Amino acid sequence: MSRAYAITAEAIATERARVDDDLDRVDLASIITLDELTMPDLKPRDVKIRVLAVSAEHNIAHAALADTVNITDLRGGKIYPGNSALGEVTEVGGDVSKFKAGDIVVTHCNGEPDAYGYPLRIWAYDQPDSIGWYAEEAVVGDWQLVHAPLDCGLNLWEMAALPLRAPTAYHLWRRAEGIFRVKVPQEEIATLNVLGFGGGVSELFLMLAKHRGHNAFFCSGSPERRKALEAQGIVGIDQKEFNRFADRGDTKAFGKQVKKLTGGVGMHIVCDMLRGPVFDAGIGAASREGVNVSAGWQLGTMVKYNSAGASTKQVTLDHTHFETLTGVASATSLYGNVFKPTVHSEIYAFEDLPRAMVEMQANQQTGIPIIRVADELPASVQSLIP
Ligand SMILES: NC(=O)c1ccc[n+]([C@@H]2O[C@H](COP(=O)([O-])OP(=O)(O)OC[C@H]3O[C@@H](n4cnc5c(N)ncnc54)[C@H](OP(=O)(O)O)[C@@H]3O)[C@@H](O)[C@H]2O)c1
Repeated sequence: MSRAYAITAEAIATERARVDDDLDRVDLASIITLDELTMPDLKPRDVKIRVLAVSAEHNIAHAALADTVNITDLRGGKIYPGNSALGEVTEVGGDVSKFKAGDIVVTHCNGEPDAYGYPLRIWAYDQPDSIGWYAEEAVVGDWQLVHAPLDCGLNLWEMAALPLRAPTAYHLWRRAEGIFRVKVPQEEIATLNVLGFGGGVSELFLMLAKHRGHNAFFCSGSPERRKALEAQGIVGIDQKEFNRFADRGDTKAFGKQVKKLTGGVGMHIVCDMLRGPVFDAGIGAASREGVNVSAGWQLGTMVKYNSAGASTKQVTLDHTHFETLTGVASATSLYGNVFKPTVHSEIYAFEDLPRAMVEMQANQQTGIPIIRVADELPASVQSLIP
């Protein structure tokens, strides 16, 4: 038996009844609780891993809050969450040639690729029967793993921050850049202005934009995160100076500041992973022919915009999801040379995973939250522990 975190529909219902459906008062720690799992026998293409470290991800909060859909209920009343992990291979099925015991690997959350490699469903979320990786062990298909680039320059916790967020950022970037380039080719403008709002995915998106030679701007309420990105040449904008866009005046003032920072042009590409209050600010900040791209909905799922305004400004909105299988491999090759994530100051113990989720939801962390799952780490990663 291995320990694994679970979410039940019953726990969600009990907690929601306690707080009278007020999602701001939900205690995630009472919903995400430790359980036990028996590992299934390995099929020929299966790989067994010992999970070493995971990062806290928002889809677990979305599952526990049931704020978009009640995915736990839809999946029969119980799910095992966790769709980002770094682990050590302990056993492989007879037909696995790409991995062997002792390899260090990262997972990805593409649960079932469509004809072009895009996820139809997400692992440990809406993929039926999928078992997540907030667990001591896991059995996965070999197609779900990528070798961890141990010599990329990142430490172990930084690498554990990336399996879900880096492919998302990579996909967002190639979509946004591709859409902009349909409208304005490179020969017309080489250097773009790129804005990202808050968060781990956005910071990686901006690192990629910066690496490709563009001007990158990070609008965040976190001084620690802005400072970390400024060290990489990404300009920080304090979102709290604009009162987190509480009213139209704040959004207008932000628009003015963006114009000032970009010589009157505005942002060619905006990554809005939060929607809600930042959506209008992002649309207002767009340059002519701008692209507003998002794979997230943390602060709001519904958006409303003036389509005539978008039309005359030639602005495009795009909603993306997770990467294709080949895109995941490409994104992993950028660990360390492009993606240098900020990691929260505390590395949480496995038993403290529910607290990590609560603190992430309360926006109290200074970087991406990492949970160390294994007490004993293999010799191959000892030099990567800071
Ligand atoms: N579709 C996909 O494939 C996919 C993949 C990954 C993530 N996502 C979604 O994308 C969203 C962001 O994910 P992430 O991993 O980047 O999150 P993250 O690293 O936890 O960042 C979230 C950010 O939200 C900001 N924030 C929190 N409360 C706020 C508030 N009241 N007002 C304004 N900003 C606030 C904070 O920015 P400050 O620095 O300003 O405080 C924080 O850094 C989530 O909804 C997640 O589910 C989707």
